[in-house]
Amino acid sequence: MELPFAESYRIKMVETIKRSTRQEREQWIKEANYNLFALKSDYVFIDLLTDSGTGAMSDRQWSAMMLGDESYAGARSYYNMKNAIKEILGFDYFLPAHQGRAAENVLFSTIIRKGDVLPGNSHFDTTKGHIEFRQAVAIDCTIDEAKNTQLEIPFKGNVDTAKLEKVLWQYPREQIPAVVLTVTNNTAGGQPVSMENIKAVAALCKKYGVLLLMDSARFAENAYFIKTREAGYADKSIKEIVREMFSYADIMTMSSKKDAIVNIGGFVAFKSQELWKSCQKFCIMNEGFITYGGMSGRDMNALAVGLDEGTEFDYLETRIRQVEYLGMKLDEYGIPYQRPAGGHAIFVDARRVLRHVPKEQFIAQTLGIELYLEAGIRAVEIGALLADRDPVTRENRYPDLELLRLAIPRRTYTNNHMDVIAVALKNVYDRRDSITKGYSIAYEEPIMRHFTVELEPAETRKEAVEL
Ligand code: F0G
Repeated sequence: MELPFAESYRIKMVETIKRSTRQEREQWIKEANYNLFALKSDYVFIDLLTDSGTGAMSDRQWSAMMLGDESYAGARSYYNMKNAIKEILGFDYFLPAHQGRAAENVLFSTIIRKGDVLPGNSHFDTTKGHIEFRQAVAIDCTIDEAKNTQLEIPFKGNVDTAKLEKVLWQYPREQIPAVVLTVTNNTAGGQPVSMENIKAVAALCKKYGVLLLMDSARFAENAYFIKTREAGYADKSIKEIVREMFSYADIMTMSSKKDAIVNIGGFVAFKSQELWKSCQKFCIMNEGFITYGGMSGRDMNALAVGLDEGTEFDYLETRIRQVEYLGMKLDEYGIPYQRPAGGHAIFVDARRVLRHVPKEQFIAQTLGIELYLEAGIRAVEIGALLADRDPVTRENRYPDLELLRLAIPRRTYTNNHMDVIAVALKNVYDRRDSITKGYSIAYEEPIMRHFTVELEPAETRKEAVEL
């Protein structure tokens, strides 16, 4: 008999999580104004809000923390991080930052000017935010297939190279500071980019003399998919694939809270010494001196070990097979999600579940609230609330997809938790036709409203008063 698959680690330390009653959850979500971000974590049984900074560090990482060198300048921990970035990723120069968006800030303060355009594949929210804040434009060139959740293709995060070339051809080179390639493509559902596509994008960048920036939060998960899905890579190690991926990039930004399996940290790495130098001042002004950039020595040590562990096949296989396991459970119950299962999350296609809720009443958010009420599970809306309003017209933007993201923290939950998530969703799915009303906005901030928005059940909606 073939042995079943099991995790490539065992558990040394545990953290208690608490169940609650539906009645308690009804009270708590009301007090949170139906915003899942406003819930106390103690009110959550299984937290799938994000896979960012929520993973469990290993014994090696915790012991590396004890060896942290907290010197202001030139700490040993900085050199540990530098060596890991050089050996594993192949970059000679880097600046530490406290997380991914801070790394973006350091880089973009140097390279982006008003009126610039940055094409790429579904720029992450903070990346787009940093671009638009500088009055530049992010142009999404993701393949159209990514919009069809039921289509099963291996590299749904890819760039449509024809769309990209059109942009590169249309704008003068000076107006395009970089092409942003996000691996894996978070917004499209944690979907990978193939090596073939990376090469094609790099070739276009070369042809038009534009830098290639890889937003690399989940680069190791991307490498796992290349190894398991792309011809010619099955016999290569994850570390070999990672080196090849980055051999095509000029710059990388990193949120280490994902694939470097730490709770905080990030960096921007460069091939060019000149560019590294010109970014240093923004690191010093916003993050800290160039050898710590907002990180403590112990955090840099844990990050260096995390880069090594995060690029080991056994770890990645455990990780990705858990996400796949949840996907298989949802298949059993017929629940539609972005196919195939992504690297870090399952993205439930909320529009195919809640067919009676109008888009103006936030379909994916409504599903997220129902899932919380059902079992104390917290997911996150990737839909109209997140898409926010058009910066110019101030009209609500309704994206092509209304998704509920179930992000799986690394090395944190067991497959029993996955079973609970799947059954909770099934219960909501079974009563889907009785859910006919969503939520309306009672209060919203001018930008990034989803974090602090206050909602109310749609039937109690007060019509806006004409002034
Ligand atoms: N790039 C990508 C692709 C991301 O997914 C994130 C964060 C960032 C950059 C920014 O990094 O959070 O360290 O500042 N994604 C988290 C998420 C927040 O939940 O997907 P950060």
